[in-house]
Amino acid sequence: MQKLEQLYEGKAKKVFKTDDPKLYIVDYKDDATAFNGEKKGTIASKGVVNNKMSAIIFKQLEERGVPTHLVKLLSDRETLVKAVRILPLEVIIRNVAAGSFSQRYGVEEGTELAKTVLEFSYKNDALGDPLINDDHILALRLATQEQLDTVRKYAFMVNDFLKEFFLKSDLRLIDFKIEFGECDGEIILADEISPDTCRLWDVHTGEKMDKDRFRRDLGNVEETYREVLKRVEEHQ
Ligand code: TMP
Repeated sequence: MQKLEQLYEGKAKKVFKTDDPKLYIVDYKDDATAFNGEKKGTIASKGVVNNKMSAIIFKQLEERGVPTHLVKLLSDRETLVKAVRILPLEVIIRNVAAGSFSQRYGVEEGTELAKTVLEFSYKNDALGDPLINDDHILALRLATQEQLDTVRKYAFMVNDFLKEFFLKSDLRLIDFKIEFGECDGEIILADEISPDTCRLWDVHTGEKMDKDRFRRDLGNVEETYREVLKRVEEHQ
């Protein structure tokens, strides 16, 4: 499968057309940004880690009944995916308080939540990806009620799978962000699942094993990404 014209370049990935209009090639970069692009850097080999890790996870999710865009891992940085129209929503699941949730509600990071939280952000860089609720989404016609119901169902299935999946690698899943796309009228999981999009804390030491090392200048960023992939490959 050949890469043709570049369709889109995002902060962490490029998307290319192929000779099949129903298939795209995603190419993962080492570029890293945080705080809506204000902080910029590179994390060597991040693209390889995120590409390989997403492929491992998406394959297992498919086997467990969550439809995904994954077709085939092509190389260290490239994956063949189904062409979708991405819903302009970031779907966030929180098992433990951290990040913007802790800031917004004044709760210490690491606090166990009485209930798993599903949160939506409106994917819109110009607005800074604001928090949005179901009524806002319907009012703005960003998705239909039926699509929201499907997204919610799949998001919790992903959470149930990922908690167990990462625990096998001694990683505690604090929270994560996923995105969905529309393909032939169906909602399928798209984008990536990686240390860029999950908070993962070492079960024994509590050490942060994710992009917060970059966001917060905690050091050992590259080493941590490589370590997460190594653990996941060993315990998948
Ligand atoms: P937050 O606490 O900063 O809102 O982040 C929640 C989760 O979403 C966390 O696992 C990191 C992930 N995330 C992204 O994948 N992309 C983003 O742009 C942001 C802000 C968070």
